[in-house]
Amino acid sequence: MTESFWWQRGIVYQVYPRSFMDADGDGVGDLAGIRARLDYLRWLGVDALWISPFYPSPMADFGYDVSDHCGVDPLFGTMADFDALLAEAHARGLRVILDYIPNHTAAAHPWFVESRRSRDSPKRDWYIWRDPAPDGGPPNNWRSAFGGSTWEWDEATGQYYLHIFLREQPDLNWRNPQVEAAMLDVIRFWLDRGVDGIRVDAVQNVIKDELFRDNPPNPEYVAGPGRDPFDSLLRVYSGDRPEVHDVIARMRGVLAEYGPDRVLIGEIYNRVERLVAYYGEGGRGCHFPYNFQLVTLPWDARAIDAAVRRYEELLPPGAWPNWVLGNHDRHRIATRAGAAQARVAAMLLLTLRGTPTLYYGDEIGMHDVEIPPERVQDPWEKNLPGIGMGRDPERTPMQWDDSPNAGFTTGTPWLPVAEDFTEVNVQRERDDPRSLLSLYRRLIELRRAEPALHAGAYEPVEAKGDVLAYVRSGEGRRFLVALNLGAETQSLEARRGTSGTVVLSTNPERDGEGVEWTVVLRGGEGVVVRMD
Ligand code: NOJ
Repeated sequence: MTESFWWQRGIVYQVYPRSFMDADGDGVGDLAGIRARLDYLRWLGVDALWISPFYPSPMADFGYDVSDHCGVDPLFGTMADFDALLAEAHARGLRVILDYIPNHTAAAHPWFVESRRSRDSPKRDWYIWRDPAPDGGPPNNWRSAFGGSTWEWDEATGQYYLHIFLREQPDLNWRNPQVEAAMLDVIRFWLDRGVDGIRVDAVQNVIKDELFRDNPPNPEYVAGPGRDPFDSLLRVYSGDRPEVHDVIARMRGVLAEYGPDRVLIGEIYNRVERLVAYYGEGGRGCHFPYNFQLVTLPWDARAIDAAVRRYEELLPPGAWPNWVLGNHDRHRIATRAGAAQARVAAMLLLTLRGTPTLYYGDEIGMHDVEIPPERVQDPWEKNLPGIGMGRDPERTPMQWDDSPNAGFTTGTPWLPVAEDFTEVNVQRERDDPRSLLSLYRRLIELRRAEPALHAGAYEPVEAKGDVLAYVRSGEGRRFLVALNLGAETQSLEARRGTSGTVVLSTNPERDGEGVEWTVVLRGGEGVVVRMD
């Protein structure tokens, strides 16, 4: 058992600030709203909140287009509100992780305004400007993550600038040491205020191929609904370049200036073989590169079993694992896996080895909300309508109670509230021992109380069909986790002689049940068995 830091023991809870709690009645969540709900997070038992961006922004990408990295957008409050939130979180033993967006700024950022002023601007090279290709078109074939080319023509200065995301999000040139110095100072600004870590947005994109070579076609890509045209090319030159690891090492160095306790989490969607490289050589990379396999894989026991084993095998020595079940960019687990699987998913997330990250609302079973066309907000959906890319469905207001707008706002919410909010809400589930929220809370409690579950070893168990099973062990205790990811009854033939007691089940009636050899699981059922 090797764990020693809070971010290894702890559980991270992601707050999407627009949608968590609105204190001023303008229909958009804010920092004062988050502060008002800290007691809920403490009650739930999580250890840290990661807050998605609240910096000044034109909101083309809802805050991921930053126009001032060291401020608070008035929509979310003031710096005094931030300081109060941080102080009150810390007073409750909750850590605070901020989003750090190094790859790009808003086009409205003063740096970019200056950069695009003229080819001779002292900040010209702070962004990535290129002449047209010989045919007058864009410099290469790279595609933007949100549709179309990654290059935007600037008529006034006769060059293209690069934007991996929206045209309102020009990419910074991290090969320029002045850019790096300015952006590393942003980390210091927030660490000086006392934040406990950063989640680094799109970090693999920060460095691009020096020669700007074309990305090759992806031979596996098939166009169609739910297929992202961004995947039609293999993004081998537009990101994930070897030099990015030096940049991350320098970011990590800034965190280290503040002691060993501040965490660096990288947002990296990539094959697990590539992902693990982001731990960095000699621990100079991310404390953990976010592992999105539970978000990207089909909800299939065999696929997930294979992925967990492979990930465990590939982790470099000393690397700490982590698991994510949902976030503001992907459809909610209750929708992807189906409502009947939400309890199994909770048990999986909270019993695997490594730090779990929970997305707000998943703990009460919030699902994707269908957004009528006239209420669509997300630029991704607006650019590529109707193929399922939009992220509004998973960003709808948190459901606190059964009052109007689920207690989220007294105004008009920026996205519609789910229709079933009178059933699915914190207030109702809090006092119901059978609710999903109660299950989450008990799982968190058990994970915290049992070193085997938060720090212990992971051992796969052979299973068939829809059953996923593994053993977690440490400090003299062994727990068998058996989950049925399907709708039919299944059984797990455990090793001969296996016996134990169910300490926690998705179905509370089973708690305390004795187990001998075989574990029978109804559809959507999971158990944690303390082995004798
Ligand atoms: C990843 C963020 O999670 C997503 O919401 C955002 O649109 C892009 N990066 C661009 O910053």
